[in-house]
Amino acid sequence: MKTSFNNPGTTQGRRVLLTGAAGFIGSHTAEQLIFSGHEVIGLDNLSTGHRSNLANVIGHESFELIIGDVLDSEFVDSICKNFRPDAIIHLAGLVSVVVAQEDTAKNFQLNVQATQVIAENARKNHIKRVVFSSSASVYGDTTEYLINESCPTRPIGMYGAAKLASENLLAGYASSYGMETVCLRYFNVYGDRQDPKSPYSGVISIFLDRFSNHSPVTIFGDGEQTRDFISVRDVARANRLAATAESVKSGSLNVCTGKCISINDLAEIFQSFYRGAPDPGYADQRPGEILHSCGNGGFASMALGFDPNVSIRDGLADLVAVQDLEEALKTEAFQPAVIA
Ligand code: UD1
Repeated sequence: MKTSFNNPGTTQGRRVLLTGAAGFIGSHTAEQLIFSGHEVIGLDNLSTGHRSNLANVIGHESFELIIGDVLDSEFVDSICKNFRPDAIIHLAGLVSVVVAQEDTAKNFQLNVQATQVIAENARKNHIKRVVFSSSASVYGDTTEYLINESCPTRPIGMYGAAKLASENLLAGYASSYGMETVCLRYFNVYGDRQDPKSPYSGVISIFLDRFSNHSPVTIFGDGEQTRDFISVRDVARANRLAATAESVKSGSLNVCTGKCISINDLAEIFQSFYRGAPDPGYADQRPGEILHSCGNGGFASMALGFDPNVSIRDGLADLVAVQDLEEALKTEAFQPAVIA
C-alpha cells in the first residue's frame, strides 16, 4: 500500500477495542470501523450510553458489545488477552463539563484514572496504539484566532484539566514504551444521538429539540460568539483513521473544521429549516463564556489524511431529517403492522 505524508495509508481488517461504544461519538465510530471492514469489540457500562445507539451494528459478525466498566483493570486485561486488539480507541469518560467541575473525584476517576487503566493494559498486552478522545477545552480561553496544537494549553476548568492530564500520561507511555498514542482534541461535536435533555447539552442538540417542538431558543449574550462545530460523522472518521493508519506519530491533533459560525447564524440556519418558528430570545451571557473558538486542522490533515467533509448546513440538514424521521416513526401511521 502506498503511503505518503499527505495521504497516510490505512490498514485493512484491524481489530479495535472501543471504549464508550454505546455513546454518542462511540456508536458512530463503531459504525465507521465496521463498515470499513474492521473488527470491533465495544466496551460500555451503559451509564450514559444506550444499546439502541448501536442498532446498526448489533448482530453484525464483526461487532460485539461487552457491558462492563473501563475502571475494572482485570476485566479490561481479560478483554485484551482474549481479543488481542491492534488498537484501542478510548472514548469512555465523564462527558459533562459541569459535573466534572462539581464532582472532581468522579472527573479524576473517569477522565484520568480510566486512561491509566487503558494505557497500562495496552502496554502489558503489547497493544501498540491508543487513540484518546481529548478536547479543545485543553486550550482554555485563548486569544488566538485559529487555534493550533502549539497554542498554550491552559484549561479553565476541571474537565479540560483532566483531559490534559490524560494526554500527558499517554505522552509518557509513548516515550517510555514505544507506544503510539494519539490524542484527538475534538472541537464542538454535534449530530444525531446527542442527548438534548440535559441543560448542559451542546447548543445544537438544544436548538434542535426546541425548534422541532416549535418552542423558542435562548441565545446567551449577543449571539456573536463563535464555535467550530464538527459533525460526529467527521469525528468518527478521524477516530477510525487514527486507529487504522499504518503508522502515526504520537501526540495531539485538533479535530475541527477550521470554520467557525456565530450562534446567531446557527439560529438562522435552523430558522431556514423550521419556517415560522418563534424568534430566539436573548439572555445574559454565560459566566466564563469563551467568546471565540476555531481550530486549525492542518496537522490532522497531514498526519491522518483527515479533512472534514460535512459542512455545517449539510450536517444540520441531516440532523433535522433524522429527527423528522424519528418523530414520524413515533406516529401511528408509521408503526409496523402487527401480524396476529
Ligand atoms: C463547552 C461546555 C460548557 C463549558 C465550556 C467551557 C458542553 C456542551 N458545553 O461549552 O459546559 O462550560 O465548554 O469549557 O460541553 N448557547 C446558547 N443557547 C443555549 C446553549 C448554548 O446561546 O441554549 C451558546 C453558549 O453560550 C455558547 C455556544 O452556544 O456560546 C456553544 O455552547 P455549548 O454547546 O454549550 O458549547 P461551549 O460553549 O463550547
